[in-house]
Amino acid sequence: MTKTLGALLDDFNDFHAWLIHSQTSIWVLHAISRSQVLNHLGDEPTPMETLAARAGMKTDMLRRVMNFLASQEVIEIDSEDRIIHTARSRAFQERQEVVRWLNVNFPPGLKLDQAMKTGIASFEHHYGQPVFDYLSERPELADEFGKLMSSITNAFETFIFSQHQFKPFTRAVDIGGSHGRLMTRLLTEYPSATGVIFDLPGTAAQAKENLASSPLKNRIDIVGGDFFKAVPEGGDLYLMKQILHDWGDEECVAILKNIRAAIAGDGRLAVIDFLLPEEPAPHPGYALDINMMNLLTGGRERRLSEFEELFSTSGFALDRVTENPHGQSLFEAVPV
Ligand SMILES: C[S@@+](CC[C@H](N)C(=O)[O-])C[C@H]1O[C@@H](n2cnc3c(N)ncnc32)[C@H](O)[C@@H]1O
Repeated sequence: MTKTLGALLDDFNDFHAWLIHSQTSIWVLHAISRSQVLNHLGDEPTPMETLAARAGMKTDMLRRVMNFLASQEVIEIDSEDRIIHTARSRAFQERQEVVRWLNVNFPPGLKLDQAMKTGIASFEHHYGQPVFDYLSERPELADEFGKLMSSITNAFETFIFSQHQFKPFTRAVDIGGSHGRLMTRLLTEYPSATGVIFDLPGTAAQAKENLASSPLKNRIDIVGGDFFKAVPEGGDLYLMKQILHDWGDEECVAILKNIRAAIAGDGRLAVIDFLLPEEPAPHPGYALDINMMNLLTGGRERRLSEFEELFSTSGFALDRVTENPHGQSLFEAVPV
């Protein structure tokens, strides 16, 4: 979105065009995710009727959706009414973890008003249980979620490793480390260090499988557990990427206190999350904040003063911030 909603409201034509376009984009995205229609495209140009037959759809309806996608430069349609894959449609087809998560995440989003009334995440209103419980009962989906997290980490890690210089450390512990994407990158950058990936038992088992053939596997321990009970001891760098934003203040303090009990006296804590401006201003973190309202009761993005408060309540002091105005920032805190 290049204009804010406020600026769009200055001109009703502008606003209406934006509304129709963005709502339609979401519907179409949802329709092609649910139906997986693009998975029926092959390397050769595919006639519209063939695609309709493969996907079990009405040709006319399919054509109109394909026309919209072609108008958005996702696919191409040639003069013989055949659909041609582009790098973009292939990327959509290949990133099944994003597509699958969109299908899970979209329906609860329509119940955001209930979250606003009750304070309970819309995910719980829709699926009847908190997201990590839901995932624990569905290992295949949890695996997709882990892959999604890895691809998000992949997108942000260039910023982390080009802008932030970690102080020397010997053993890093990634709290809620998922499938280990951040840890493998960290240990590649710091070849003399070792690491621990800590996550819920099911996710830890997936991380083990994921790293079975990694050349780094002998430098990484993978531990399953519950960060509300305890976290592995003995690290001098504790990482938490997109963990605090999953929880309300009370839960964050509980996790941070467990890290405080485990961290070496001269250790450092690196929290990676969006940093909201102190006063509302255009910033990508606000959209993620609504996503957290959708996903997890208590989940939220935070301002610097809120991070400082969490740290000081749990025995840490904020030491430095590497700020990323376009994505996640890195906050380093030390035990006091
Ligand atoms: C939003 S994901 C972030 C994953 C990873 N740090 C990243 O940024 O790619 C949150 C992670 O916290 C883990 N998690 C949730 N509850 C947990 C708990 N009680 N104890 C340990 N890990 C937990 C989830 O399994 C998940 O991998």
